[in-house]
Amino acid sequence: MARILVTNSEGTPGVGKTAEMLAAGAAGLDAIEAGIRLVEADTSIRTVGRGGWPNLLGEVELDAAMIDGSSFRSGAVGALKGFLHPISVARAVLERLPHELLVGEGATRFAAEIGAETANNLIPDSERVWREWFEENVPAADREKWPDVPLAALCQQAIDPEKGMDTTVFLSLDSQQEIMAGVSTSGWAWKYPGRLGDSPVIGAGCYADSRYGAAACTGTGEMAIRAGSSRAIVLYMKMGLSLEAAVDEAIDDLRQLRGGLLQRITLHAIDRAGRHRVVALNAEKQLTYWLWREGDEAPHAEPAEIIAL
Ligand code: GLY
Repeated sequence: MARILVTNSEGTPGVGKTAEMLAAGAAGLDAIEAGIRLVEADTSIRTVGRGGWPNLLGEVELDAAMIDGSSFRSGAVGALKGFLHPISVARAVLERLPHELLVGEGATRFAAEIGAETANNLIPDSERVWREWFEENVPAADREKWPDVPLAALCQQAIDPEKGMDTTVFLSLDSQQEIMAGVSTSGWAWKYPGRLGDSPVIGAGCYADSRYGAAACTGTGEMAIRAGSSRAIVLYMKMGLSLEAAVDEAIDDLRQLRGGLLQRITLHAIDRAGRHRVVALNAEKQLTYWLWREGDEAPHAEPAEIIAL
């Protein structure tokens, strides 16, 4: 079975590194972590790591996860503040703790304990855009009492499809025929503090099973959580469906959602035979993703399928 790597366009800073490592025989988790670290450190990627959009309070809270499709060990962190590489903290959860997911203060404590690199992830441009939003949308009386004000109403108007809800996702089949997944995101711009998207929720934002395949989602995490989309795709493959049909079933599940936040979502999937499929649902523009297969000199961009829900 040929090695394969699929990552979305946000993966641009890291895809070359991950492909190079997979080509050299590296383990999938190592190759994915190395690639995602480059994305997290690149401030031109505005929805992942340093440079990501802040929450309603103007604080950058990061989510990340990895899953090993052979052991089914996963590691995830949610709402992590002040560290440059949430993906490496997630990897440390996988390797060093008897837990799968840490959030908030506990995640911060653990990141400090393992000596993870600290960073101010709020770059000046994000702070400027957030401040403009704050001045325009927060009533003067609330600005004086800030941040001790109700946030729920602000959260309702802060859903900006141009900002956030994107993620970087990496799926790989490595030289040992093991299938792995990793994801990292800053989530929604202006999200309610403590909001977790799909990325740190194993089975929603990503899932992997070396016997069948892997899947990961970008876009509206609330939808992937409700439909359990990544786990669903892999489970549909286990139940005998082809990769193509498994993704179709997961799309059908998403079609059943009523109410709540229903916007765009993109499904990425690979299978054990080295096939892949990337489908952008409700996309407002053409999306591309990166594909590398054993024997390719370098990753190349491909257009995603576009389907309206
Ligand atoms: N898919 C990323 C998020 O919703 O946070």
